[in-house]
Amino acid sequence: MIQALGYLGFGSADLEDWSSFATGILGMQAVERGNTSRAFRMDDRSQRLVIDRDLPAGQRYIGWELEDEAALAALAARLERAGVAVTREPASLADRRAVRALISFHDPIGNRLEAFHGAETSEKAFQPGRSISGFRTGPLGMGHIVVTVENIDVGMRFYRDVLGFGLSDYMERPFGAAFFHVNPRQHSFAMIETGTNGMHHFMVELCSLDDVGQGYDVAQGDGPQSNLVSATLGRHTNDWMTSFYLRTPAGFQIEYGWGGRAIDPANWTPQKMDEGPSLWGHERAWLPEEKRAEARAMRVAAGAAGRRRQLQVLEGTYALTPGTCAWWDSAMSMQG
Ligand SMILES: [Fe+2]
Repeated sequence: MIQALGYLGFGSADLEDWSSFATGILGMQAVERGNTSRAFRMDDRSQRLVIDRDLPAGQRYIGWELEDEAALAALAARLERAGVAVTREPASLADRRAVRALISFHDPIGNRLEAFHGAETSEKAFQPGRSISGFRTGPLGMGHIVVTVENIDVGMRFYRDVLGFGLSDYMERPFGAAFFHVNPRQHSFAMIETGTNGMHHFMVELCSLDDVGQGYDVAQGDGPQSNLVSATLGRHTNDWMTSFYLRTPAGFQIEYGWGGRAIDPANWTPQKMDEGPSLWGHERAWLPEEKRAEARAMRVAAGAAGRRRQLQVLEGTYALTPGTCAWWDSAMSMQG
């Protein structure tokens, strides 16, 4: 079955804008791909994000990764049994995607999905476009993608029942949303019910909180005119990610985060999120004022109820501090 979000491609003529954005703010590495597209690296893979001038603006492809040729064939058969048209793409497209083989199909929302195996890695070390510690990818994939939908139920049937994604959780207020996992990353895919089918954001996760904070500074530019931030720094209730959102040159958003939790997909029960999407922060410029007020009230209520989550840290990036509580420290020191 599908193991991870492998790559993303977006149609845009603004290759130069995308290059300075992806390298200077996100910290990705630009790779030349002729004059029709620009690829960006995040890790040892040859490419993770592609901006394609030949693809009309507003169009995209979402690359889902499988283990091997047999898994890819099994997925194609499963899709066809469900009545989904599948194209076995030629080697020329596999070359452009830097994978061994791929198939393509569409979800009922209108997104072009690709499924592949055998991603190419580069012999050259990843060189970040600005100084960052790195992106958290590997078995968790490149991050997550969130699309907007007219109706969540249609997408639910496809992603959960046909593709076999695991439902992580879902939300009705302040907006309808459903989150899905394909590996321990709490969600690799989500849908937000906004009334239109489109692109909302994709998320990349950094290895250090300082990468995110320094990105937050850079994304705010040197004044309101150049401020790209579309949701302030905050922390999510479901994947515990500390993040902010910024506008891309294509108009959709990117979530830039740190500290996401890992779940055990074999022992997970889907949960309804009654506390809203954020424990704190994430003031969303994209929501209508009435919904912003609702989201704000839910955050304040989560704070008043003392909702807190443990930090999720990578080995070697933390030190335990003494002085958790003066009373406890003195009790412990008396024990000798
Ligand atoms: Fe997100």
